[in-house]
Amino acid sequence: MRPIYFDYNATTPLDPAVRAAQEPYQETIWGNPSSVHQIGRAARAALDEARYQMAQLWGSKPSEVVFTSGGTEANNLAILGTARLRRSQGRHLVTSAVEHPAVLHAFEFLARHEGFELTLVPVDQHGQVNPEDVQRALRPDTTLVSVMAANNEVGTCQPVAAIGALCRERGICFHTDAVQAFGKLPYAGVASLPADLVTVCAHKFHGPKGAGALFVRSPLQPIPLLVGGGHENERRAGTENLPAIVGLVEAFNRFVPTPVFPPTQLRLWTEELASTLTSLPGVTRRGHPTDRLANTLAFTVSGTDSIALMAALDLEGICASSGSACSAGSLEPSHVLKAMGVPPAEANALVRFSLGRETTKSEVDRVDAVLPEVLKRVRRP
Ligand SMILES: Cc1ncc(COP(=O)(O)O)c(C=O)c1O
Repeated sequence: MRPIYFDYNATTPLDPAVRAAQEPYQETIWGNPSSVHQIGRAARAALDEARYQMAQLWGSKPSEVVFTSGGTEANNLAILGTARLRRSQGRHLVTSAVEHPAVLHAFEFLARHEGFELTLVPVDQHGQVNPEDVQRALRPDTTLVSVMAANNEVGTCQPVAAIGALCRERGICFHTDAVQAFGKLPYAGVASLPADLVTVCAHKFHGPKGAGALFVRSPLQPIPLLVGGGHENERRAGTENLPAIVGLVEAFNRFVPTPVFPPTQLRLWTEELASTLTSLPGVTRRGHPTDRLANTLAFTVSGTDSIALMAALDLEGICASSGSACSAGSLEPSHVLKAMGVPPAEANALVRFSLGRETTKSEVDRVDAVLPEVLKRVRRP
């Protein structure tokens, strides 16, 4: 039996049309875009075209597009690069307690090694940041705030428009890790968001892995992480990965303006699963009940742990996650659930179902049917 893939927040399968769009750049147009001869010039033309298209899709200038190796690098560049750039204006940084490790650890690195001060804004029981808490955290020496658009573990959406506006009024840079939002939430452009920096990651919407981008509002110039050649307008050295870039732009074009995750259908199915789950003993639904990604359903189970839960689901052919893929296999309680005030024993027993384009009604029905038995098996009496 085909496995049931309920882990679309971790990654999505590469779309065949995206793969086809990438192929010429593996096979034929393989030059180095920096070479001045005709083979290089063909690659340069393709790279320029990809950047132009990305900018069109974002409503930005081409110079505001920085292609990266993925979401992690884009987050690192945004945070490390901007904090270092604005260091002489202040050393205070603000982020939320529920960010992806690619954001949290970048801030923690600056605090530990480079003399910055970090304020972690709390979240409510649903994992949502209150803009008033962000406002209270701001100081005259705050230079950068980062709050994600939607949480990868529990699917809670954050009030980034309000937070961005607060920052803008005060001349503070605002970054949002919108990796989980693209393809899942209604799209109205990137440059129109009240953010100076926005992170994009292709493999979350059927694009290739190892491909991402950072929107950098002009005239901001984060200090590069990678130094060498003058690639990406001096913001990211290294020969451009043209197939990855073309794949990212193709996937964005196909799957973001009209979100590839069908919201109405997925909300119906996740609610169906939630109603079965919440009728079972020891199960608590996590995340925001309404202000959430339609594809994401998170819950904890008392009297067991994530590893037992993942193993039991896997035996049934169900691919789920215990939070962020980066911490899979670890018994560390989810930092997201901890921040939501969930007791450690339960924060250790998180299951995340994230559905997607290929999910079928019969898969949902099968999971719905086996859940009571699976949970009974793993719960200690
Ligand atoms: C919210 C968020 N940010 C950043 C990332 C990092 O993306 P990547 O691992 O592709 O670099 C992820 C991936 O799980 C994510 O969910």
